Amino acid sequence: MRLSGNPLRINGDYYFQRGLNQSVDPEKNILIVDDEPEHCLVVARALNTEGYTTVVAHDGPRAIELSRQNRYDLFLLDIRMQPLDGIQVLQEVRSLHPDSQAIMLSALGDVDIAVKCMKLGAYDFLSKPINLDELLITVDNAMKSMRLQKEVKSLRTQIQIQQSSDRLLGGSLKMRELIKTIEQIASHDITVMIRGESGTGKELAARALHAQSRRVKEPFVSVDCATLPEALVESELFGYERGAFTGAAGRKPGRFEQAGRGTLFLDEIGNLDVSVQVKLLRVLQERKFRRLGGKEELPFQATVVTATNINLEKAIQAGIFREDLYYRLNEFVLRIPPLKERTEDIPLLVKQFLDIFNRKFEKNAYDVAPEVMSLFKNYAWPGNVREMKNVLKRAVVLADDIIEIQHLPEHQFSPPEHTEAAEPIPENSEISESNGNNSLKDIVKREVAKLERRAIQKTLEACHWNRTTAAKKLEIDYKTLYNKMKEYDIG
Ligand SMILES: Nc1ncnc2c1ncn2[C@@H]1O[C@H](COP(=O)(O)OP(=O)(O)OP(=O)(O)O)[C@@H](O)[C@H]1O
Ligand SMILES: [Mg+2]
Repeated sequence: MRLSGNPLRINGDYYFQRGLNQSVDPEKNILIVDDEPEHCLVVARALNTEGYTTVVAHDGPRAIELSRQNRYDLFLLDIRMQPLDGIQVLQEVRSLHPDSQAIMLSALGDVDIAVKCMKLGAYDFLSKPINLDELLITVDNAMKSMRLQKEVKSLRTQIQIQQSSDRLLGGSLKMRELIKTIEQIASHDITVMIRGESGTGKELAARALHAQSRRVKEPFVSVDCATLPEALVESELFGYERGAFTGAAGRKPGRFEQAGRGTLFLDEIGNLDVSVQVKLLRVLQERKFRRLGGKEELPFQATVVTATNINLEKAIQAGIFREDLYYRLNEFVLRIPPLKERTEDIPLLVKQFLDIFNRKFEKNAYDVAPEVMSLFKNYAWPGNVREMKNVLKRAVVLADDIIEIQHLPEHQFSPPEHTEAAEPIPENSEISESNGNNSLKDIVKREVAKLERRAIQKTLEACHWNRTTAAKKLEIDYKTLYNKMKEYDIG
């Protein structure tokens, strides 16, 4: 890439760009700090040719001032400068931009000082006079190393978020007892049914059971019985052999098989079709199953954990849930209390969710205001912990430091008057804003998607994140709602 035109001079600093119309690559900004203008010019031009955007500062104080105003990915720092030397500048810019890299440029004989710089976090040092090829290779390596460090950091954060999200928290007596019971039963291969309102943490409890059992290194396979397509339930659970039905091009293991000697978590078990209930019962009794279209009997070795938020006893009375299966699944029942019955857990959960979302969104909404905490403690939380998690996710995005009442969804903390129906299309629909095609068909598609997203979000909030109720209100089935929530990244 060629340098276009002369450098820009703004407030005494030189700005070298790869062409003014090109957008600046977020990982290619370099600040060159040196008191020799000729040297700066040569280095800047060489870097520009390689596609970097460079800014030049001729002394330390100016470099620090610029670093306070802008983000630089890399600093090229001369060591011998007045009134601040390169080491002092290095210390300052490293504290301002700990993720950036610095390369020190030292005249011969400055090696000891350069070593000191390395200890202070510089990536490398080069001797003057500069060999431009060597400089470009070093800069390229420094940028690669920075990208790697960033990736590692982001993966580490993701793992931390994942690990902390996987922990079932609770300081209340009820939750402490529950956590203890999980510990006690986890070591036995017992069929556990987890009961509790929507969003109380049933899946989390199932994962905790698995994590503490001797099956921990085996698979944890989760099946959401509410969203399994009716026509595919059996092939999903049992798997199939090649040619078992039209389209079965090869053998596919089902969830029973995938679970191996681990845990098979059957979520929303109350939604399983009665005909499949019979087959499940048989598998549990005989500990054997066959793939669809298969002759071979395979052993079923997993431990089954189920969850439900519906009243299974009523479902039995209504003839939609088999009593024999109910007793088979019911060897041990774990009941997770609704959040309103354990308000002592709220501060702990708030802290946990603030921590997760601050890290996720790189924010610092570090606490909730006392009024918010008291509102939380008096609110009924019909959507339980999930509802609180969603409220805090939204609040962290909106707030800068303390979460105040205005950062909470208004209608959620006062009774909903009506469920919002589709709103009229805004007059100045953002046609030009979109990157997509502006054909009428595409515009309508985009607008419909926006309305649909908004309607689903608002209905879920109004129904306190109870997906079953929201699906009913929206007059769509649970599975469609679930898929749309995924599509629009809601919840
Ligand atoms: N005690 C807890 N500590 C930390 N996070 C929790 C706790 N309980 C629930 N959560 C979080 O709340 C959300 C909902 O939990 P989960 O999916 O386990 O609920 P559920 O009872 O299975 O809900 P549903 O009935 O709607 O399927 C999850 O993001 C989970 O991580
Ligand atoms: Mg669940």
